[in-house]
Amino acid sequence: MDDIRDYTIAQNWSDYSADEHAIWRLLFERQQHLLTGRACREYLDGLEGLRVAADGIPDFRRLSDILDRATGWRIVAVPGLVPDDVFFAFLAQRRFPATCFIRRRDQLDYLQEPDVFHDIYGHVPMLVNPVFADYMQAYGEGGLKALRLGHLEMLARLYWYTVEFGLIATAEGLRIFGSGILSSAGESVYCLDDPSPHRLRFDLRRVMRTQYRIDRYQETYFVIDDFAELFAATRPDFAPIYRELAVLPDVAARLPGETRSRPARKKEGPRRSAARV
Ligand SMILES: [Fe+2]
Repeated sequence: MDDIRDYTIAQNWSDYSADEHAIWRLLFERQQHLLTGRACREYLDGLEGLRVAADGIPDFRRLSDILDRATGWRIVAVPGLVPDDVFFAFLAQRRFPATCFIRRRDQLDYLQEPDVFHDIYGHVPMLVNPVFADYMQAYGEGGLKALRLGHLEMLARLYWYTVEFGLIATAEGLRIFGSGILSSAGESVYCLDDPSPHRLRFDLRRVMRTQYRIDRYQETYFVIDDFAELFAATRPDFAPIYRELAVLPDVAARLPGETRSRPARKKEGPRRSAARV
């Protein structure tokens, strides 16, 4: 396996320009406005606890020190997408690999690859939550195992439909916890307000069988009741489940014959490439 240290780079925080910090502030303020009443409490608490301020791109070392005290996670700078085994190894060691660069002004609404706004603003606040922090570590361990067993695609769907695009049911209504949504202005609204996507109760087997698209808003979201339930559902040994599902057909993100609108992605939010998960 590749050594994760080979993929660690320096963030060089002092090299960010004033304009790069200004872009962060633009994105931050836009999302702060949108996410009130949309993001789950755990995310908003995490964001506040990390003091990821609107001032500018956070210094990973400073952020890591706060995160480390909360849940033992640290952020490591990486040059971009890293190989699957390296990505999982980072997570298994409670290290979150984050990209350093920030999008340009003409990319505020869409970027193919994750940038520092997606990785830090989208992902890191959830890692302050102890249950979610453990879930992410378990996911890394599960990823290494899925690679060995040849069933990465099924596990990637679990990551996609929870870590990136998960919704949670609360007493106040549906809320967002998926980072791909939290860092996207358009999908933050679409996922809760638009009538067209499915919002299905989380079911591990259904998630693992459901295809996804990386180039448009999701056509299916899965809804959990709480993070402890999610962690419990994903704790069993997946090997027998992989064998059980391997002989079954995939489920399309939208079932055949359904005619509701399929909005194309309107240049919103960075996507995590399937290769990353
Ligand atoms: Fe992501």
